[in-house]
Amino acid sequence: MEETTTPENRSSETRLIGQPIARVDGPLKVTGRATYAYEHAVEGAAYGCILGATIAKGRIVEIDTAKAERAPGVLHVMTYRNAPAQPEFGPAVTPTVPEVFTRARPMLNSDRVRFYDEPVALVVAETFEAARVGAGLVSVRYEEERGAFDLSARLADAYTPKRTNAGFETDSAIGDFDDAFDAAPVKVDATYRTPYQHHNPMEPHATLAVWSGDEVTIYTSAQTLANFRAGLASTLDIRPEHIRIVSPFIGGGFGSKLIVHADTVLAALAARVLRRPVKVALTRQQMFANAGHRAEMVQQVRLGADYDGRLTSMGHDVWSATSSFEEFCEQTAVFARSLYAAPNRLTRHRLVPVDVNRGEWMRSPGEAPGMLAFECAVDELAERLGLDPIELRIRNEPAKDPERGVPFSTRNLIACMQEGARRFGWARRNPTPGSIREGRNLIGYGMAAAIRPNYIGATTARVAIDATGRVTAELDMTDIGTGTYTILTQIAAESLGVPMAAVKIELGDSRFPRTSGSGGSWGASSAGSALHHACNALKERITEAVRSSDRSPLRGAGGVKPSFVGGEVRLGDHSASLADLIGRIAPDGIEATGSVAAGRDTESYRTYSQHSYGAHFAEVAVDADTGEIRMRRMLSVIGAGRILNAKTARSQILGGMAWGIGAALMEETVLDPRSGHFVNRDLAEYHVPVNGDVAEMEVVFLEEYDDKANPLGAKGLGELGVFGSGAAIANAVHNATGIRVREFPITLDKLL
Ligand code: MOS
Repeated sequence: MEETTTPENRSSETRLIGQPIARVDGPLKVTGRATYAYEHAVEGAAYGCILGATIAKGRIVEIDTAKAERAPGVLHVMTYRNAPAQPEFGPAVTPTVPEVFTRARPMLNSDRVRFYDEPVALVVAETFEAARVGAGLVSVRYEEERGAFDLSARLADAYTPKRTNAGFETDSAIGDFDDAFDAAPVKVDATYRTPYQHHNPMEPHATLAVWSGDEVTIYTSAQTLANFRAGLASTLDIRPEHIRIVSPFIGGGFGSKLIVHADTVLAALAARVLRRPVKVALTRQQMFANAGHRAEMVQQVRLGADYDGRLTSMGHDVWSATSSFEEFCEQTAVFARSLYAAPNRLTRHRLVPVDVNRGEWMRSPGEAPGMLAFECAVDELAERLGLDPIELRIRNEPAKDPERGVPFSTRNLIACMQEGARRFGWARRNPTPGSIREGRNLIGYGMAAAIRPNYIGATTARVAIDATGRVTAELDMTDIGTGTYTILTQIAAESLGVPMAAVKIELGDSRFPRTSGSGGSWGASSAGSALHHACNALKERITEAVRSSDRSPLRGAGGVKPSFVGGEVRLGDHSASLADLIGRIAPDGIEATGSVAAGRDTESYRTYSQHSYGAHFAEVAVDADTGEIRMRRMLSVIGAGRILNAKTARSQILGGMAWGIGAALMEETVLDPRSGHFVNRDLAEYHVPVNGDVAEMEVVFLEEYDDKANPLGAKGLGELGVFGSGAAIANAVHNATGIRVREFPITLDKLL
């Protein structure tokens, strides 16, 4: 296995796909010309401010809006008493899309309060400031009920949902786990706790709603336009075709922009009532209750092995908090079904309802908390066996998918670990904890594996070339900061043999062909593959016209397959400029579409187990006196098929590694057990790693091409940097100190 070349030394290649090309939308973003949701300017927009509940459970017994209504500039105060009728929370109108994306989520439709900071009023005014003053003048009296907030105390109330959120079975069982685990000579039985966590995209959730007759245009910040539109249609009880979603630039989206939230519903309702455009944004603090989170979890991992380190039994049980009114079950243990060989296996997901808003997808949903726990347990087993953690994983490498029984497509986990070990200097690690000391610091090394299912979402792309040779592609795909505009430009330019400057990618408008959107690390492969097909179809149409048109200079030229290179079409010995050709043979331009089906509907998914892989390495320094943990180095070696852009791919993995640091060492939203209130709901008190925390990071991509995955040979990688990277850090902390902290994040108090 050759490792890929670093971004720097690939630039000699002539191909565009894979090149470390800087973002084509970068200049727009850094000069402020990329328009984000709240910045769209329309004539006569009014501004809404949301007022949230100050209890977590109960009902509104009195709500006095008179003062607010009389305040200067206030146009309207909406509460459950006067909000337009909406369908009950529940099934969606679009049966083809999973209900979780598309169900009606009405706002201000009841006197019930179901979670702390749930919207109880929207004040709309001529300015945002007037709306905020107005919101402060609304007085609400509640009848509070006792809420349930403590997951650990309520594990006995756990129930089994029908399926995990992503559609996987909640349970899997192969062989006889209990007997095999009982009989195993070496075992680990460890319980880990992960806290509530919140995603904080730089751009908060915001919407501008503009009605025209019975149609509404929604300028917002959304990851998946089609699902978003379907969910809003259910909530407003109108046809999806009557909604246009516009979301060309998105200031980050980590799962929290997959479904409709309060800003969108309330802006749309108020704009309809007032017959003028309305803007509503969630404040940073409001996002903590109203834009999703990763739920608190308890995980028990049980591993039984023989003395040689071969797993005889593997069990992963997950208990997760869910909201009392809407179920959300992450696929936390699903990765474990494909990672290591073991004849006796058990994975289970259980939910405990609490009086908190629903959990939602948060970058690497499932695998992030799941691998954080599981890959620590594997490290614990290695220690118990006296075996190197990489060697233990190699001994349990399965020949085929251990639960599905089908072959893997490409799987280079061992190569990732070995290449990482070589580059990281893993041999310098001393397996005896606490044995490397530098001054006050104890130095520790840790590693962990990463695995991520490869998803493809149903996607169509349209591409057109005009008489000047300009290429335009349109998809309702989004670029959430990941590099979609750039990657799609590379794909179209390489395929059609035109310079990147001749290609314009248009995204983020629901009038364009429907795509998977961005999420689940499926965006680049799904949109890229559809565009690849669309470009091939366009080349065929051009070729047809070139061969047959009376006006074509290449008419009748040989039976050779034409090539599209350097802005020209070449047929045998003949060539002509593409722009010139189109100008002559199709002055109105030529267009074509291309599509990919959802991965789960394809033969290739049924016959191959498709995942991307990685190995994460971490070195930490722990102050022996204070317990302060500092990152020193991280390395991730990734096997994710063909890399479409070495620069944006690297950025994705770096971001993921930083999430790993957050999960291992810093991130935790604290729920007040008395009030059900997230107390640290801003970026001052919710700690995420900053530049000074991440230290040195390196990313290496293995040279891979997965011909089973899709026509590009690429697999999803966006979230792969998160999976397992936190466990590598936790394992390094143990190697430094000899202490196993099983309750995340590992803050210094837990080491004293
Ligand atoms: Mo990501 S949590 O799949 O948007």
